[in-house]
Amino acid sequence: MQIYTYDIRKLNNDEYRKWYSMMSDDRKKRVDAFRYEDDRKRSVAGEMLARTAISEMCGIAPENITFERTRYGKPYTSLAEFNISHSEDIVVCAVDKAPVGIDIEKIRPVNLKTAKKVFSENEINYLFGHTPEEKEFINTDNTEILSRFFELWTKNEAVGKCVSTGLIHDENYDNYDIETFSIDNGYIVSVCQKKKTVPNGTVL
Ligand SMILES: CC(C)(COP(=O)(O)OP(=O)(O)OC[C@H]1O[C@@H](n2cnc3c(N)ncnc32)[C@H](O)[C@@H]1OP(=O)(O)O)[C@@H](O)C(=O)NCCC(=O)NCCS
Repeated sequence: MQIYTYDIRKLNNDEYRKWYSMMSDDRKKRVDAFRYEDDRKRSVAGEMLARTAISEMCGIAPENITFERTRYGKPYTSLAEFNISHSEDIVVCAVDKAPVGIDIEKIRPVNLKTAKKVFSENEINYLFGHTPEEKEFINTDNTEILSRFFELWTKNEAVGKCVSTGLIHDENYDNYDIETFSIDNGYIVSVCQKKKTVPNGTVL
C-alpha cells in the first residue's frame, strides 16, 4: 500500500486549475458549491492525490482516470482501490490493490461526551485508562486523552471507510489490519484493510 499526503497550503492557482479541469462535471459542481476556499482546495487536492497515486501505480495518465461513487458516497475506479481523507491543511490518500480505508484528524480539544455517543465501553475504558465516572465526560485538552480519542476515532472511521458504507462500528479489529500513526505535528492517521482469509477461515 502507498500513502500520499499533501498540504493544501501548497496548492497554487495554476495547480488548482489543472486538477480541477480533470474533474467530472458532477465533482466540479460539488467543489463549486463549497462556500470556503479551503474546502474547495481539500476536495481538489484529494482528487489530485488519488489521480497521482493511481497513475503511478497503474502507469495511466492522471487525466485518463475516471471515478464513480458507490451509493454510500465512496469514490472508486476499476483501476485500483483507494481512499481519501482530509482534515484542516492535510489531505491523505491510500492506494492499493485491495480495498482500503483511511482517516486523518487534527488533534484538537473535544468534549468527551462525544465519546459516549460513538465509542464502546471497552474503547471508553481505554480512552480514560480506567472506567470513568460521569463527571469525567467534560471538555478536555489533555494531550494523552486526545491522542487516544483520535486514535479510536480514526480507527473506527478507517474501518467504516474501508468497507465503504462509512457507517459500521465493528469493534472486532481482529478482522482488520489497522495502522495508526502521527504526521505533521498534530495529526493522527489510521489506515485499514480487511485481513485476507483463506477458504477454511485461517487468517494469513
Ligand atoms: C462519509 C464519511 C466516511 C466521511 O468522513 P469524514 O471524516 O467526514 O471525511 P474524510 O475527510 O475522512 O473523508 C472524506 C472522503 O472520503 C471519501 N468518502 C466519502 N464517502 C465515503 C464512504 N462512504 N466510504 C469511504 N469513503 C468515503 C470521499 O473521497 C471523501 O472526500 P471527497 O468527498 O472530497 O472525495 C463519514 O461521514 C462517515 O460516514 N463516517 C462513518 C461514521 C462513523 O461510524 N463514525 C464512527 C466514528 S467513531
